Amino acid sequence: MICLGIESTAHTFGVGLVDDKGNVLANVKDSFTTKSGGMIPVEVAEHHKKCCDKVVRDALGIAKIELDDVDLIAFSQGPGLAPCLWVGLNTAKKLGGQIKKPVIGVNHCIAHLEIGNQVTGAKDPVLLYASGANTQIIAYEAKKYRIFGETLDMGVGNFIDSFGRTLGLGFPAGPKIEELAAKGKNFIDLPYVVKGMDVSFSGLLTNLKQKFESGKFSKEDLCYSMQENVFAMLLEVSERAMAHCNKNELLLGGGVCCNKRLQEMSKNMCEQRGSKCFIPENSLLVDNAAMIAWLGIVEHKAGIKTKLEIKPYQRTDQVDVKWR
Ligand code: ATP
Ligand code: FE2
Repeated sequence: MICLGIESTAHTFGVGLVDDKGNVLANVKDSFTTKSGGMIPVEVAEHHKKCCDKVVRDALGIAKIELDDVDLIAFSQGPGLAPCLWVGLNTAKKLGGQIKKPVIGVNHCIAHLEIGNQVTGAKDPVLLYASGANTQIIAYEAKKYRIFGETLDMGVGNFIDSFGRTLGLGFPAGPKIEELAAKGKNFIDLPYVVKGMDVSFSGLLTNLKQKFESGKFSKEDLCYSMQENVFAMLLEVSERAMAHCNKNELLLGGGVCCNKRLQEMSKNMCEQRGSKCFIPENSLLVDNAAMIAWLGIVEHKAGIKTKLEIKPYQRTDQVDVKWR
């Protein structure tokens, strides 16, 4: 069985082809970028509309198959930006109608977790899901993937990108900030905001902007200190969730987890508590459609059928995990 998955929750329009053994046959994407930073949902949706047919063609070409060889279509139902989700749903409906095959909607956050398990061999991890719009600590308990901690305001990636805009970096700023941070030498004290199991970034963002505008600190030192501070916050709540749920695996997901310093700190934390750290390759950490295709197969095999609708505000713990 081959599933064609479509990802369109935010800036990435992707098409992935995955078989029922979990082999990724193709994982193509076209991401909206700007030089000056910022994302306007309808503009991003226009980008997706323009590139969707080509991304589908490219994915089929890379997998060396025809659309008729596809047995199932999966799309990201949410959470995400409604105008972008519409493009994914409409593409899924169109392709499903063309080949007269079932179409299934899946949750984007859970897709990060399931593809991570599939490619790394993690069995029952705590997921640190750190992306642009999302920052959640997720683990399986009593038939649901439950959120044990999360951001109280913006996602960590959006926070990093906003800070990057202050520094005059384009979007996405994460990779450029990582480069600058590697050159930082002096640790600057910053607000460390962990509230119970949750984290918060808005106060920290204001503080960083003020520090930058004061002219007293170098970009490199600010980036270095921001990373150390923020990644420690994320790992503190991840570690506490592992202890609370009695789980000894940590899985990383989301674009921010491409950061090598975050990966290193995650491995150190796991080593110290005798746990395992699982890190998928970058192409499966960032928003991608292979993960949507894989979750489509997993849910389809469990007999799950969904309405053809988008769910921009769907929460991870609203999904019944019938496949475990
Ligand atoms: P979602 O829709 O799941 O919230 P997203 O659309 O923002 O995610 P992702 O591809 O998961 O997409 O993540 C993108 C984010 O990851 C951006 O904010 C980007 O700055 C950040 N990022 C990418 N690489 C790095 C890096 N090396 N260090 C820090 N942040 C990074
Ligand atoms: Fe994501």
